[in-house]
Amino acid sequence: MKKFLDLISDEVKKGFGLAGYEEELGRVTVSNRPDLCEYQCNGAMAGAKKYHKAPLLIAQDVAQKLSDSQVFEEVSAVAPGFLNLKLQRSFVRAYVESMAQTEKFGLEAPEAVQNIVVDYGGPNVAKPLHVGHLRSAAIGESIKRICRYCGHQVTGDVHLGDWGLQMGLIITELKLRKPELPYFDEAYEGDYPAEAPFTMAELEEIYPAASARSKTDAAYKQEAMEAVVKIQKGVRGYHALWKHIMDISLPDVKKNYADLDVEFDLWKGESDAGPLIPEVVELLEKSGLTYESEGALVVDVKEETDTKEIPPCIILKSDGAALYATTDLATIKDRMDSLQADSLIYLADKRQEMHFLQVFRVARKAGIVSPETKMKHIGFGTMNGKDGKPFKTREGGVMRLEYLIRDVNEEMYRKIMESRHEISEEEARRTAKTIGLAAIKYGDLSNQAGKDYIFDVDRFTSFEGDTGPYILYTIVRIKSILGKYQEQGGGLEGLAFKDAQNAPEKELMMKLCGFNEMMEGAFAETAPHRICAYLYDLANAFNKFYHETKILTEEDADKKAGWIALLVLTRNVLETCIDLLGFSAPERM
Ligand code: ARG
Repeated sequence: MKKFLDLISDEVKKGFGLAGYEEELGRVTVSNRPDLCEYQCNGAMAGAKKYHKAPLLIAQDVAQKLSDSQVFEEVSAVAPGFLNLKLQRSFVRAYVESMAQTEKFGLEAPEAVQNIVVDYGGPNVAKPLHVGHLRSAAIGESIKRICRYCGHQVTGDVHLGDWGLQMGLIITELKLRKPELPYFDEAYEGDYPAEAPFTMAELEEIYPAASARSKTDAAYKQEAMEAVVKIQKGVRGYHALWKHIMDISLPDVKKNYADLDVEFDLWKGESDAGPLIPEVVELLEKSGLTYESEGALVVDVKEETDTKEIPPCIILKSDGAALYATTDLATIKDRMDSLQADSLIYLADKRQEMHFLQVFRVARKAGIVSPETKMKHIGFGTMNGKDGKPFKTREGGVMRLEYLIRDVNEEMYRKIMESRHEISEEEARRTAKTIGLAAIKYGDLSNQAGKDYIFDVDRFTSFEGDTGPYILYTIVRIKSILGKYQEQGGGLEGLAFKDAQNAPEKELMMKLCGFNEMMEGAFAETAPHRICAYLYDLANAFNKFYHETKILTEEDADKKAGWIALLVLTRNVLETCIDLLGFSAPERM
């Protein structure tokens, strides 16, 4: 469906044309003075220079041509030359009606379907997920859903950090504690035990101990780095231990993401890029881009137009070890070869900006991607506590993600029990989880990704204001009215919309009309916060309408049915939007 604003613009453009002016001047925007009009056009101001005519006179000419428009109830030219526009109720109603009948509420399929890979999550295996992992998961999941909803072929890949120093540290510490294990015996040729020589709980203790020790013991750290190289080279015992660490940690990682309703299509990791590294290094060497610098193999990526220093990208360290950039380049090769990617989107902390800039440039220069392939790093800001510093536990430690979720759910549960005494324990717990997730995700996603934000449990869990629970509350309110309408014997299918009966109803309809435009923007800008802003406006518009309209007690059955049709559409749009943000609404709360 053509976008609502474009339809309105078309009409005003026609007016400009009929009055003898250039049509392009007729571009319309939503009014920035809603007290005066619904939409506005400032084209006459721009036309004044061109036509050497007072803008007000131009506006008056156009207004006159639009006086019997089917789109506008009122077009007024006001000083110094604005066109204030008010829509016909029937025009708005017709658009809303077709939205309800059209797939995806009138969002059009893309001209070309793209193969998009969204790389998000990116947890480093063997370390518990902490609050820092929330953003990548929440934003990435939403972007994946947005791209898919817009009609593209999307693959979400968790890209596990499963090849890094943490693995080497764990193995080094293990060797120190249990040197007798067969994994460390180079002469050993038998099979290794099927069972890991540690539990998850032990692993959680081993890693921080090893990490702490590596900070003061240089030889120990050196050994850990060598262990990483051994893992990468596939040294038998080291590879077997690495596999144990993966097997023990992954279920926990998967559970964490499942609790967040975050689902990956691929559970690949940096290690999967391993086998492709020699090929990529060869390709880079053949392309003549590489050279040796202090024993390392590097590629220059700076460009003349750079305004800051862009250091060379290191491909192999002097000991031959692959680095973060190397695995990312090999992974790009894999995504090009096996997924024919048109677009690669990465979610990672904004402090990784330089890394991605380097990787993208190398990929382009070396032809690992085609010139048309899009590559985008969405660098997100830090999640801070109320003190404005990175979110910590009360004791000052790093907060585990599962504890954060637990705390928010507890708070939601407390609020539910406070207001609803008749609810069963089981339902209260389940509902608290659903609303808790909305509180967390909406709290995160409503901010522009690149900005730091303050994770404020009190605010995020509030049923009032720009919060997830407020949005859910609105949806549940609509569901409850629809349920009662059905109890009264009414059906929800095939109801006819009616022209708005009051101003808040028209307002609500006009908000609905902006859906496809908002979605196109959210996709183009990979910006879930656009959906949040729309949701909040839509929920506000609905609640205003609800407070001024006695829906269920209305005696005129057609009028009532028209409102129910509007409620059904509003609920559907709201629920579609929250699904795109990665959460859902309970039946009641
Ligand atoms: N594991 C990385 C980290 O913890 C994030 C991975 C982001 N994705 C990527 N392809 N580099 O910082």
